[in-house]
Amino acid sequence: MSTSQQFDCFSTLSKEIIEETINAEFKSLNEICLDTILYGKDFVNNIVLQNHVQSIICSSNYIEKGKIKAEGAIFRYYIYRLVQEGAATETMRCDSDELPVASHWLLPAQDFHYMWENLYYDCDIKNNLLRFVETTMLFSDLAVNSNIISWNKVVLLHGPPGTGKTSMCKALAQKAVIRMRDRFTHGEFIEINSHSLFSKWFSESGKLVMKLFDEIKNLVQNERALVCILIDEVESLAHARKSCNNGTEPSDSIRVVNALLTQLDQIKRFPNVLILTTSNMTEAIDLAFIDRADIKQYLGYPSEVAIYNIYYSCLKELMKSGILKHEEIFDISQLKLFGYTEDSNTKNSLKLLELSRISEGLTGRTLRKIPFLAHALHLSTNKTTLSKFLKAMHLAILKQVQQEGELQQI
Ligand SMILES: Nc1ncnc2c1ncn2[C@@H]1O[C@H](COP(=O)(O)OP(=O)(O)OP(=O)(O)O)[C@@H](O)[C@H]1O
Ligand SMILES: [Mg+2]
Repeated sequence: MSTSQQFDCFSTLSKEIIEETINAEFKSLNEICLDTILYGKDFVNNIVLQNHVQSIICSSNYIEKGKIKAEGAIFRYYIYRLVQEGAATETMRCDSDELPVASHWLLPAQDFHYMWENLYYDCDIKNNLLRFVETTMLFSDLAVNSNIISWNKVVLLHGPPGTGKTSMCKALAQKAVIRMRDRFTHGEFIEINSHSLFSKWFSESGKLVMKLFDEIKNLVQNERALVCILIDEVESLAHARKSCNNGTEPSDSIRVVNALLTQLDQIKRFPNVLILTTSNMTEAIDLAFIDRADIKQYLGYPSEVAIYNIYYSCLKELMKSGILKHEEIFDISQLKLFGYTEDSNTKNSLKLLELSRISEGLTGRTLRKIPFLAHALHLSTNKTTLSKFLKAMHLAILKQVQQEGELQQI
């Protein structure tokens, strides 16, 4: 079992003291909630946690969600301070324009915080992706001969729009940096702006890619930094090749795609590099690219249980921010424990389960909008009860399902 604690920005306490304090606190607990964010300020009897720890997240390699017994659990601690600055935009001069070619974050970043915990999928998708990254780094570190065992350090996440592909790449990089604290002091996350690179055809495009990768190669020299490169919507590479076949400015487009593939091939030889890619249209991805990906993970529409988890996290957030009154709502594992039987305690949770059922077929992006739409369109008061809010959500879901149906008919 692992726990991640996030240092308060200004804390001067050593990691050892933080670790000891949390250990003592956990020993006094019977059960520990997994993948739930515990805030330091909520530990009212513990001054150290209140003043020095922003949040604690416990997770297990074996189970997601639910609770585990504190007694007998073996803890591994990952204590980190978040980088507060947002992304820096890397620009490059091209002809007379200044082009934004990439966004650059230092990890672990405040911007990516809680992303991992708030992505819900079925099966072991998240754990498998994390294990993939850890194995990649292990094989590189132990200098396994890549002519005998081949691995490419390329992850491809594909699926319909709004299913969490980009978020997952960011969350995965952040989690990997936190988990591999012994190996890496920090991470560099570079999101390549494919649109700038591929949509406008400059005679300089190929050179731009080379220039960008020269900068990335500088970052890679620091072996203690995990350098993650995200190429979002990688199908734009395929479009570039197609436009070449169509005869529009062939030499430029093919040059830039080839330059990118060559640079990626070179950079992934470094042990501390990870390449993350996403696509909405698997059939349209450049074949040369598919071939390079070790893990091709499909991310689809959330199941009923995943939807319940998404809605549950939204309702908790609304309670935390004071928009909703604090009321009991059970997570899915507790509800299962009660055998889904209805009484005054479980009524609201069962209603949420029903809402999850009728929301099947909506994307994660749409689901996360439902509570907002419910409030905006179907509620008149500011602080409302859970049961009223669930009714408003119901109306918002029905409208959304109807709209999606209409769109599909067009
Ligand atoms: N399975 C999921 N669980 C929780 N939240 C999700 C899930 N899928 C998507 N989301 C939420 O939907 C929003 C959009 O996600 P994101 O931009 O990563 O999707 P995407 O697949 O990259 O979309 P696109 O293909 O349009 O680029 C984010 O706020 C994300 O948290
Ligand atoms: Mg995306």
